[in-house]
Amino acid sequence: MKHFLDIHKTDPADLRRIIDTASDVKKARAGRPKGALDDDLPLKDHMVALIFEKPSTRTRVSFDVGVRQMGGQTMVLSGSDMQLGHGETIADTARVLSRYVDLIMMRTFEEDTLLEMAEYATVPVINGLTNRTHPCQIMADILTFEEHNGPIKGKKVVWTGDGNNVFASFAHAAKQFDFDLVFSGPPPLDPEASLDGLYSIERNPQAAVEGADLVVTDTWVSMHDPQSARERRHNQLRGYQVNKQLMDHAKSNALFMHCLPAHRDDEATSEVMDGPNSVIFDEAENRLHAQKAVMRWCLES
Ligand code: CP
Ligand code: NVA
Repeated sequence: MKHFLDIHKTDPADLRRIIDTASDVKKARAGRPKGALDDDLPLKDHMVALIFEKPSTRTRVSFDVGVRQMGGQTMVLSGSDMQLGHGETIADTARVLSRYVDLIMMRTFEEDTLLEMAEYATVPVINGLTNRTHPCQIMADILTFEEHNGPIKGKKVVWTGDGNNVFASFAHAAKQFDFDLVFSGPPPLDPEASLDGLYSIERNPQAAVEGADLVVTDTWVSMHDPQSARERRHNQLRGYQVNKQLMDHAKSNALFMHCLPAHRDDEATSEVMDGPNSVIFDEAENRLHAQKAVMRWCLES
């Protein structure tokens, strides 16, 4: 049984195979109605639980649609509506769910919740974002980069802003897919120490973005951050906004990515988000294709 818990916990050859499968399954159904079934149905007769402790638009809809396109059925569960949110242990929840469903996708606050679910579940568990990482997002981002600009190996990727959960999965990917990652943000918002050695730091955003193949940012205040941090974050991060002046330091064919949801004109201007280098909606679409490949991989024997 294979869980998809994090990029650094997945073998690079498997990661590459997942990206290639995602590309193939995307091409195979090009032009088909979104509700049409795929040619092969690896999730036929399969039931999938999608559990959310936090809000979601992309993760929720893309997993749901992806399962159905592959012939499976879904149930979307809110953590607070489950007994899990009212004192039942994660281990017991995992054992019970494993009697009903064939696959569990989970978005949690604490990483330990996800890890405990995976420890006690007897079906594969997929990480749909925790406070620490967001691996499915970065699989979609790698697919998106390679569709537009070829192999990501050896490329320069620059992250501006908060060293958060999405950055952490980029850092894991930098090692597994062998690209250079630069972090550009203020010291109080540096990535967690466990990621040291996976990226370099350049505090000056213009210098960081020089020669970049990809510029990435994310919201300045994540779902797990206290809302009271908002004003302080804005003051700390204003200088790291991705705007046209900053993008002009990158290569002319550099891509701009943001996992969304965005606070337009905070972390990135609408001019960049809607501009010629932006691939933000391709990223969102590719969540569907990448996660279908992740689910296939999890269910392979
Ligand atoms: N990017 C992403 O995970 O979006 P949602 O929070 O809408 O799922
Ligand atoms: N860093 C953001 C990503 C949302 C998809 C958050 O955790 O809220």
